[in-house]
Amino acid sequence: MFYIGGAAKTVQEQSALIEKNLKPEMFWPTPTLTIQLAGVEELNRGLARIIKEKEKEILSKTRATPVAGVKMGLTAHWLEFNVLNWDYPEIAELRRMVLDGIREMFKLVGEDPDSPGMQIAGISCWANVLRYGEFLEVHHHDPSFVSAHYQVQTGYEVGKPPSKDEGGQTVYFRPGFLDRSMGGKAAGQTSPWDSDWKISVEPVEGKLFYFPSYVRHEVRPYLGTHERISIAMDIFVKKQEALMHFGGPRWFVPGKPQASRPSIKPR
Ligand SMILES: [Fe+2]
Repeated sequence: MFYIGGAAKTVQEQSALIEKNLKPEMFWPTPTLTIQLAGVEELNRGLARIIKEKEKEILSKTRATPVAGVKMGLTAHWLEFNVLNWDYPEIAELRRMVLDGIREMFKLVGEDPDSPGMQIAGISCWANVLRYGEFLEVHHHDPSFVSAHYQVQTGYEVGKPPSKDEGGQTVYFRPGFLDRSMGGKAAGQTSPWDSDWKISVEPVEGKLFYFPSYVRHEVRPYLGTHERISIAMDIFVKKQEALMHFGGPRWFVPGKPQASRPSIKPR
């Protein structure tokens, strides 16, 4: 029994007065987008050739910044170059694919890719060349808005699926997982290999994959025959108001003339 304004109401009468407004809203969802490209074998061969040529130049001329457990190799030079700034027809094609995909990813997260806030402030884009035994430790790409990677070459023998021993899978961890599993007594019993908390993905050539930059992931030790080559990128948008200067060799800014894009930053 309720007493409102001196008059008693039954629970049923009160219940009839209750209004309910639903407002669905995603705070930090984890949408991902896979764009599987077919007919890109020749493009990928070209990209692999370009990346391996550039690798020599970049390693000899620029400085390493250890990242994701990698102290040397192309990944560690990620701040010194931008793949999207390279002047090759294959790279122009990659730029088109990447920018198209970004628009689709923005729509997927409920944003209008043509709105002022979603204009791209800058893209950092580097290549990873992993050879036998190499791996990337668990890391994330925050503070960028969205990240992506494109698989140029799995490194496995051409035309053959990977064997279980060849490794090189990318493992994505559910947001919050690592915090919980390392959170002391209150964290409870969780195995790091609990399948509910990770998604392990085999590399597939021609796959362009977008994900929120805060998703932690790793690349398991690669044990295949050739090089495992991927291109990774971090996309920053205007609405983030990031206190960063999107100039210099690390950055690609859509619409900026090619001539003003430095190739690499010598040490
Ligand atoms: Fe990564």
